[in-house]
Amino acid sequence: MALTKTDPPALGALPATMRAFVIRPETEGEPETAMRLEAVPVPEPGPDEAIVRVMAAGVNYNGVWAALGTPVSVFKMHREPYHIAGSDASGIVWKVGSNVRRWKPGDEVVLHCNQSCGECAECNGLDPMACSEQRIWGYETSFGSFAQFCRVQSQQLLAKPRHLTWEEAASYGLVYFTAYRMLVDRAHLRAGQHVLVWGGGGGLGSMAVQLCRLYSAHALAVVSSDQKAALCRALGASAVINRSEFDLRKHPGETPEQAHHRMSEMRRFGKRIRELTGGHDVDIVFEHVGSATFPTSVFVCSRFGQVVICGATAGYNLEFDVRYLWMRQKSIIGSHFANAYECDQANQLVIQHLIQPVLGEVFPFEEIPRAHQIMRNNEHAGKMVILVGAPRRGLGAHAG
Ligand SMILES: NC(=O)c1ccc[n+]([C@@H]2O[C@H](COP(=O)([O-])OP(=O)(O)OC[C@H]3O[C@@H](n4cnc5c(N)ncnc54)[C@H](OP(=O)(O)O)[C@@H]3O)[C@@H](O)[C@H]2O)c1
Repeated sequence: MALTKTDPPALGALPATMRAFVIRPETEGEPETAMRLEAVPVPEPGPDEAIVRVMAAGVNYNGVWAALGTPVSVFKMHREPYHIAGSDASGIVWKVGSNVRRWKPGDEVVLHCNQSCGECAECNGLDPMACSEQRIWGYETSFGSFAQFCRVQSQQLLAKPRHLTWEEAASYGLVYFTAYRMLVDRAHLRAGQHVLVWGGGGGLGSMAVQLCRLYSAHALAVVSSDQKAALCRALGASAVINRSEFDLRKHPGETPEQAHHRMSEMRRFGKRIRELTGGHDVDIVFEHVGSATFPTSVFVCSRFGQVVICGATAGYNLEFDVRYLWMRQKSIIGSHFANAYECDQANQLVIQHLIQPVLGEVFPFEEIPRAHQIMRNNEHAGKMVILVGAPRRGLGAHAG
């Protein structure tokens, strides 16, 4: 049975095929052309897995990387002939494997995107993020959420916050759970600290700003537009800096004059920070931009402060003056997504209305490639979401 746009199957039954946006090795390139609509077989769940009917799916930067095929092709990470991206979803559990006890068809869920083997010592005593088989679902695995059904490990299922619509519920998982681990568990965020948040109006940044507010820390959000500045203030940022007022970028093959100019711009940026914080340097720098910002992050971080980093949108080969690191005893902390416990703890804060989704533009299913192109071009604010099974916005929320 082929699945059309409008005919959801009976709960528990899986159609033979589904509509999905797929990337194939030969289509890798700009998102607008790399992701193509096809009818593909619906996977069956393994014993510890579930098939979820996707109601809405969040757009993340890893979909851009998957489309581009850089810095590494997803086809080097899994053996499927095609890649269905999408690491965030809200939906309905449709079918479960024989070992699954905690979830049943009909449960409304959101998903976290960490997969691991579940059997090793690291999974069972240390942290599933340390598992040698740890993978990001929808990036390092196929059968992500840009399809009518997706396949997940049952440990990826989390209760959908009842008060949220499908599109709101699909918007926050990947970026929020990542930001939670970075700030709460890796950097041990404390009340009263000053935190510099790069990209405060983006996916990760908008969640980092809210976490700072919730933990009574001061978020200093960096943005590139007035629209994103207003968003950050509304989310609780203590102050906002527009980065276009500073020339911080390190040019390849920098001349001594360019290096001198950049240094004076970094000092001016540090001075602006201290003006906004009442004379304090930042205790934590929330990093995910990489080469364009990292030298500044290390420079402006306080003595004994921490730069916590999870990504490198602008480039992953980082050059910085290490004297500012060792002389002032700063730390660089790597962080990657989050384990199931952290995801659950963070999700509870959404259920309790303490953290809000930051919904940007909402697109119909057919516009998945365009939404990724917008992200690639940095033309968005907050989180973009795709309606998949949900026929229109505003559905899925329950009262009480
Ligand atoms: N390891 C993980 O688990 C993990 C999880 C989530 C995301 N990531 C990575 O983190 C990065 C950000 O993800 P996201 O979802 O937050 O993306 P996003 O929504 O596009 O936000 C990124 C923000 O970075 C800022 N930015 C872009 N280029 C910049 C530059 N040259 N200098 C300063 N700021 C710049 C932009 O803000 P302004 O233009 O307003 O300054 C933008 O809003 C991506 O590379 C993603 O792959 C990693």
